[in-house]
Amino acid sequence: MRAVVFSQYGDESVLELVERPAPVPAAGELLVEVRAAGVNPVDWKHREGAVRSDRPFPLGMGWDIAGVVRATVPGGPAVGEEVYGMLPLPYGAAYQELTAIPASAVAPKPAGLSWAQAAAVPLAGLTAWQALEAAGAGAGQRVLVHAGAGGVGHFAVQFAKHLGAHVTATASGRNVEFLHRLGVDEPVDRTVVDPADLKPFDMVLDTVGGPVQAASWGMLRDGGTLITLPEPVDEAHRVPGVAARRVIVAPDGEALRRIGALVDAGAVHVEVQEVLPLEEAARAHRLSADGRVRGKLVLAL
Ligand SMILES: NC(=O)c1ccc[n+]([C@@H]2O[C@H](COP(=O)([O-])OP(=O)(O)OC[C@H]3O[C@@H](n4cnc5c(N)ncnc54)[C@H](OP(=O)(O)O)[C@@H]3O)[C@@H](O)[C@H]2O)c1
Repeated sequence: MRAVVFSQYGDESVLELVERPAPVPAAGELLVEVRAAGVNPVDWKHREGAVRSDRPFPLGMGWDIAGVVRATVPGGPAVGEEVYGMLPLPYGAAYQELTAIPASAVAPKPAGLSWAQAAAVPLAGLTAWQALEAAGAGAGQRVLVHAGAGGVGHFAVQFAKHLGAHVTATASGRNVEFLHRLGVDEPVDRTVVDPADLKPFDMVLDTVGGPVQAASWGMLRDGGTLITLPEPVDEAHRVPGVAARRVIVAPDGEALRRIGALVDAGAVHVEVQEVLPLEEAARAHRLSADGRVRGKLVLAL
């Protein structure tokens, strides 16, 4: 099968498209023919060595897949069924024609989505889902999502709206209209307005880190919750009365089934900025690392 692998940590030039043997599923795993693989910032962070695997080189790449089941397990989906799912961290194996994935990590592919859209959902969608759950987000709460037009952000704003929250989200000016279309109550052009002017919030989702996390503490009401994604909670900025935790996304086929139902009901839109061929994995990494992607990038197989 064709696969994108890398044999040393480094810039995108370490990515190689090679022929390698198909994986052999372990107990509880399916073999899936991958039709599309989602691209996430963790992919290039892994390539750079920030996320390390204890397996030997060459290492596979990517965690998001949509494809067709080719071998199954008792109680698993049928051979031929169309599924989508997230592979367990830290073993990337999505940028390849066949992958082995735990049956518990997949759900039926939402019927209304293309392969590319389906592959765009799992890691970012589950992150948004698990972040809102961790904060106990619900009806009537005021939620701020930083980078609301990004991969995680665009799911988080829509899930929060579905929960009945009042949603504020930041983006640069070119994405403000997009935030409106996603149903954000208060889209904020972060180059013009300081979201601190709109405080206090019950929950802030920090998808950016650094100064954005530092500023987020002061935007929360007493008893509010800060959820960080890119970085651990920075104790140096802790504000008494504010709960804070970092969420690390985990595969969850059952949550993907529920997300799929929202997508099929028309409650959630999946934005794919660009679909690239597998051969252009390096360009996809460059685009992702530039930090300006609207929605998701996806590789087609
Ligand atoms: N802990 C976990 O399990 C977990 C899971 C998923 C993701 N993450 C991390 O969370 C971060 C976000 O992931 P993602 O997939 O959503 O990334 P992404 O899709 O690459 O985010 C891109 C978006 O960020 C916005 N942006 C760029 N600079 C910004 C700034 N200074 N302030 C506010 N927004 C800014 C851009 O919109 P504008 O240019 O319009 O502002 C763009 O739409 C990454 O660091 C990723 O590694 C962690």
